[in-house]
Amino acid sequence: MPKIGLRTTAEQRKDAGWSLRAKGPRRLGVPPAKTRLESVIQRMRAQLLLIDHAVELVARVPGPILELGLGSGRTYDHLCSRFKGREIFAFDRDLASHPSCRPDAAHFIQGDFRETLPKALARIATKAAIAHCDIGSYDVEASHALADAVAPLLVPIMVSWGIVLCDQPMVSPLLRALPLPGDLEAGIYFMYRVG
Ligand SMILES: C[S@@+](CC[C@H](N)C(=O)[O-])C[C@H]1O[C@@H](n2cnc3c(N)ncnc32)[C@H](O)[C@@H]1O
Repeated sequence: MPKIGLRTTAEQRKDAGWSLRAKGPRRLGVPPAKTRLESVIQRMRAQLLLIDHAVELVARVPGPILELGLGSGRTYDHLCSRFKGREIFAFDRDLASHPSCRPDAAHFIQGDFRETLPKALARIATKAAIAHCDIGSYDVEASHALADAVAPLLVPIMVSWGIVLCDQPMVSPLLRALPLPGDLEAGIYFMYRVG
């Protein structure tokens, strides 16, 4: 029976030109489109350029900054350098960042995103202007599932006209996809305007 009205996020991703990368062993003699090293460099360059770009996008949008996925603190450190004067709250299930870029206890929200985000407004006090979500892992399907779970929890704690940067595609009627600036290839990273 044809589905009416309801579209899966997988279908929406396909429409948006996004598809899961084929799994399985590499065929001999056919080099991958990008090496792991090239992909990592491309991702980090996208993070740097997008965070810098977002500084201008939210220049007149008040609110704190959210970092979902503190990890080693690389992107947190960059956010701190670019958003001086704004509060930055970092979320992660573990506190494992480099000691030079570690939020204080008031600005670190520990636990699974799916549990911490619904209660986060009590901690951050005002809705956020930017969320940078670096939440993916090597498991592509699990990363998409996590982004699907995070999007509806994140949007309510963002201001209208806020910006969401994410390493995974997010689907929400309240997130409008924005083109990536400069020469960044579509699909490496994702940028959305809230509202
Ligand atoms: C790719 S790393 C983040 C890297 C970091 N932005 C950096 O620049 O160093 C992803 C992080 O998300 C965290 N994470 C993944 N899934 C999570 C979840 N469901 N709840 C909370 N943290 C999660 C992991 O612990 C990991 O530290």
